[in-house]
Amino acid sequence: MEKIKSVRGMNDLLPGRSDVWYRVERMIREVVNSYGYREIRTPLLERTELFKRSIGEQTDIVEKEMYTFDDISGDSLTLRPEATAACVRAGIEHGFLHNQQHRLWYLGPMFRRERPQKGRYRQFQQFGIEALGWPGPDIDAEIMMVGTRLWRRLGLSQLTLEINTLGDPQSRGSYREALQAYLGRYREDLDPDSQRRLDRNPLRILDSKAPQTQQLLEEAPDLLSFIDGKSKDDFSLLQAILSENGIKFKVNSKLVRGLDYYTGPVFEWTTDLLGAQSAVCAGGRYDGLVSQLGGQPVPAAGFACGVERLVEVYETSAESVGSEQPDVWVCVIGDHSMSYALKNAEKLRDAGIETIINCGGGAVKRQLRRADQSGAQLVVVIGDDESMNGYVTVKSLREDGGQTQVNESNLADYVCARLREEQK
Ligand code: HAM
Repeated sequence: MEKIKSVRGMNDLLPGRSDVWYRVERMIREVVNSYGYREIRTPLLERTELFKRSIGEQTDIVEKEMYTFDDISGDSLTLRPEATAACVRAGIEHGFLHNQQHRLWYLGPMFRRERPQKGRYRQFQQFGIEALGWPGPDIDAEIMMVGTRLWRRLGLSQLTLEINTLGDPQSRGSYREALQAYLGRYREDLDPDSQRRLDRNPLRILDSKAPQTQQLLEEAPDLLSFIDGKSKDDFSLLQAILSENGIKFKVNSKLVRGLDYYTGPVFEWTTDLLGAQSAVCAGGRYDGLVSQLGGQPVPAAGFACGVERLVEVYETSAESVGSEQPDVWVCVIGDHSMSYALKNAEKLRDAGIETIINCGGGAVKRQLRRADQSGAQLVVVIGDDESMNGYVTVKSLREDGGQTQVNESNLADYVCARLREEQK
């Protein structure tokens, strides 16, 4: 019979790699909690209108990447391509935005029908934070500190932070006109995507990867020279805070985002470890979104990080190579020792020692080979004699030295000390 395959661009996370994901997710939780961010979970399906009104009708995401369908009652629904809009929708719906301040975080699958390649999937995991109710730039800096702390925690040093500001609506409007006028003179020389964007969304042209368009952009008016007043002061203050806190960044006045809701500072962490899909985490301020979705105006900012890309960088980064191995493997020999062995394995776990027990029996030699292959540091051997006399036999799989018989009441203390000793 023909085998059924997974949907293109949607991947299984197999047991061999789920440990790394778990470790990364645990660090994400620890870092966001240490800043007082609280988890929000929103549905995978939302009304299509939500994304049209927030991300923007003329963006790549809404124009061509959404999984949209009519349900049986005729409502147009969409698998969420991102979660910022849903956080705002939930905030308005449950009345926790107006005159309030909330630090939120989320982790979950998003869906975009992009062309799959390394680092770019149709179902991917995003972790994000959204700070609702603060106008910045203190919270803008805090958001970047959250990211920086997480990269440090994961041992990643190859991420580069670029920042820019889109200014207030007035200066953005003037810049838009100036850019349109300049690029309009070269309309025929632009790539087809940029030609299309010229009239409707010219700032997105700054993001074009087409070589001929990039060349034209070299002489284009500079966005930052149009920024003035409070936006300019806030952007300077943001840079000062980042510098004082030792956060390295580059100002890139061509950095624009693929979603329409951004208003002020925007930023992106990239890496050259991932080939073409270099953006690991990106975000910015979106002060207009709450009112755009029907709420009272609330200032807001946040970011989202692609977890597949983060895990990939974590795995390829030499500093972060961590251990996937258990500490201890328990070999069980003989018919009467299983219950005793299970009890002692539980004692080890109670003491925080990662322990795998050999289930399903097998010859001693075979069990020891499995123990060795697991990468465990120690093997605990339990046979009928051990179980009848209340002791276990402990042996190192990595260091020379004989085996030691340990009374079961001392087992956890002995193993902890031995692991510490061997890891020195
Ligand atoms: P975004 O730039 O569209 O922003 O996505 C954020 C991150 O999600 C990207 O930098 C990338 O790491 C990851 N990502 C996006 N698409 C894919 C894909 N097809 N496959 C794998 N990873 C992907 C947002 O989504 C905004 N909601 C960020 C934000 C939050 N702004 C304010 N708050």
